[in-house]
Amino acid sequence: MVLRLLAVLLVAALRLPAQDPDDMGQKQAADAQASAGKLLFQQNCAFCHGPDARGASGPDLIRSTLVNHDVNGDLIGQVVRNGRLQKGMPAFSFSDAQIRQIATYLHSEAALASTVARRAPDSPPETLLVGDANRGKAYFNGAGKCSTCHSPERDLAHVATKYKPIDLQSRIVFPAGLNPTVTVTESSGRSFEGEQIYADEFTVTLRGRDGWTRSWNRARVQVRVQDPLAAHVAQLSVYTDRNIHDLFAYLETLK
Ligand code: HEC
Ligand code: HEC
Repeated sequence: MVLRLLAVLLVAALRLPAQDPDDMGQKQAADAQASAGKLLFQQNCAFCHGPDARGASGPDLIRSTLVNHDVNGDLIGQVVRNGRLQKGMPAFSFSDAQIRQIATYLHSEAALASTVARRAPDSPPETLLVGDANRGKAYFNGAGKCSTCHSPERDLAHVATKYKPIDLQSRIVFPAGLNPTVTVTESSGRSFEGEQIYADEFTVTLRGRDGWTRSWNRARVQVRVQDPLAAHVAQLSVYTDRNIHDLFAYLETLK
């Protein structure tokens, strides 16, 4: 009896803050949300969008109209989950909660930016070279395991003359040019495999090996993606920003 009463009191005490949130509580929750979002952003997005989301090889997200019109991740989530593969933005499979965290972070940065003077836009490419080439080389052959698929004498020879610095930087994380292979399964159970040549939130279009192309409404079919660059995208959450800057400095020496 006493125990039950205690339990009831305990539950009531625990629920109190959630039932009656004061302003401080809400602000703390938003801050926690934003700092979780900041971490996700730094691990997965900063390399292309800049450490403070002000843009690098990918666009500035603080001044993005899409981000400004976003509510709780509704628009940001669509871009993040589908990627913009043709334009150099990979797709990520984040949960709704993670999308909201990233959105809260971006909105809080935007709010901050409107009160703080902005840094000079369009910084020259030399400012990208902040890494250390020797450390990058060691990482390439060691912990980064890049040398298991690449060689500076063969496929990556002269890679620095092939791309402008800003493009080389994003190719390290997300090499463009290879479209994912996709299997679409219709509700009848019939399935089609092909190269994805177009995809957005509503439609997916494939080209088969023998040349057919066909589009589906995503809502009606199952779509399974096998990305040949999955290894690259998976690495994004493993690299630190410094690893990537070092790798970039190293690859820039391959002229
Ligand atoms: C490999 C580079 C790369 C990575 C990593 C990347 N993006 Fe992008 N992102 C881009 C590029 C390039 C575009 C521009 C695409 C276009 O022109 O349509 C873009 C566009 C966007 C847009 C749309 C902006 C607008 O105004 O239309 C959003 C939002 C966005 N990215 C968020 C993210 C988030 C959040 C992450 C991390 C989870 C992320 N991106 C990771 C390269 C990247
Ligand atoms: C599991 C194999 C694999 C690993 C590991 C790997 N890559 Fe790649 N990488 C690829 C594939 C596949 C491509 C696409 C090849 C193409 O477009 O011709 C690619 C493309 C690239 C490109 C673009 C090359 C070009 O000419 O366009 C760069 C740069 C690159 N990778 C850097 C790296 C770095 C740096 C690492 C280590 C951190 C790494 N890769 C690890 C498979 C891998």
